[in-house]
Amino acid sequence: MGYQSFKRALKVDSDNFVSSSFKQQLSMDSDPPFRQTYKTLFEDTNTIENLVIAVEECELPLIDLNRLSHREPAEKRESCKAEIARASQEWGFFQVINHGISRDLLEKMRQEQVKVFKQPFHNKTKEDKFPAGSYRWGTPTATCLRQLSWSEAFHIPMTDILAGGSGSFNTTLSSTMEQFAATVAGLAQKLAEILAEKLGHKSTFFRENCLPSTCYLRMNRYPPCPIPVEVFGLMPHTDSDFLTILHQDQVGGLQLVKDGKWIAVKPNPEALIINVGDLFQAWSNDVYKSVQHRVMTNPSVERFSTAYFLCPSYDTVIHQNCTTKPSLYRKFSFIEFRQQVQEDVQKLGHKVGLPRFLLRSH
Ligand code: OGA
Ligand code: NI
Repeated sequence: MGYQSFKRALKVDSDNFVSSSFKQQLSMDSDPPFRQTYKTLFEDTNTIENLVIAVEECELPLIDLNRLSHREPAEKRESCKAEIARASQEWGFFQVINHGISRDLLEKMRQEQVKVFKQPFHNKTKEDKFPAGSYRWGTPTATCLRQLSWSEAFHIPMTDILAGGSGSFNTTLSSTMEQFAATVAGLAQKLAEILAEKLGHKSTFFRENCLPSTCYLRMNRYPPCPIPVEVFGLMPHTDSDFLTILHQDQVGGLQLVKDGKWIAVKPNPEALIINVGDLFQAWSNDVYKSVQHRVMTNPSVERFSTAYFLCPSYDTVIHQNCTTKPSLYRKFSFIEFRQQVQEDVQKLGHKVGLPRFLLRSH
């Protein structure tokens, strides 16, 4: 886009801005007040230099988990496990079908999620309505548009849901999240154990340290982003967990790095997306890859996704015990990792992650 047309577009946009902020004042809008809050970022015209180039769409490795059934011959089970391990090494990402989570449950979870995001914005920020800090939107530390995530999320420690009695979510939503998490937790354990087994260990590590109560559930909503510059729905990041299980709708927008290039994931209505997180990369001594991923915005359609993060208790120590290669990372506890990430985000404006824990600089 030329500079003049960009400025025209921005002008049109600032007219829209007036009406949208007026709507905000009436408190009828469920969208967070992105334009109002980040107004100064929109005035910085340098962003026109940062337009994102179109990326190629690809099919992630697709793995049929039916073959893990004990009714299947051993060779089939083994080849399925080998595919899971290979995808985790080469992609850090794959999708699974016949995963055992019923369509009904996935739909019910999505319906409840849509409802909770539909509320007026000012309701979602009320801390007596939702567990403190669980509702997040935008990027408070952003200093330019490229650092702003155009999305909102409820990031919920499972312990809050399983404890019940927190009284923060309505009962239908709570019980749906609980049911969803319990079912997805089984799948996460199964996949983690397969990945451990493929490193040469039958491991009870995940059973012992990643309890349903130490995991997290995250409901994401990406509102349409009708501004004439490219803004991320979710900034590029790696996940700070062992494994993530993602259920996305059909809008698309998820991208990941493969062989140094960004590629777009083609949505598959039957599949769940699995990705390796930082902790599994360290635990496997870099055999499995925690890769950068991001979400692009859509100018006209909202997008929903639900993520389940397989996490250990805070005192769990992560150290590799699975390969003969010398350790790349020093031992660290999950709480240490979390605190380091938080400190870096506050001080530098972004997560550094695993490189902080490398034994030697590589
Ligand atoms: C996340 C994430 C991707 C998506 O929540 O960590 O990467 O498609 N989500 O929403
Ligand atoms: Ni992620």
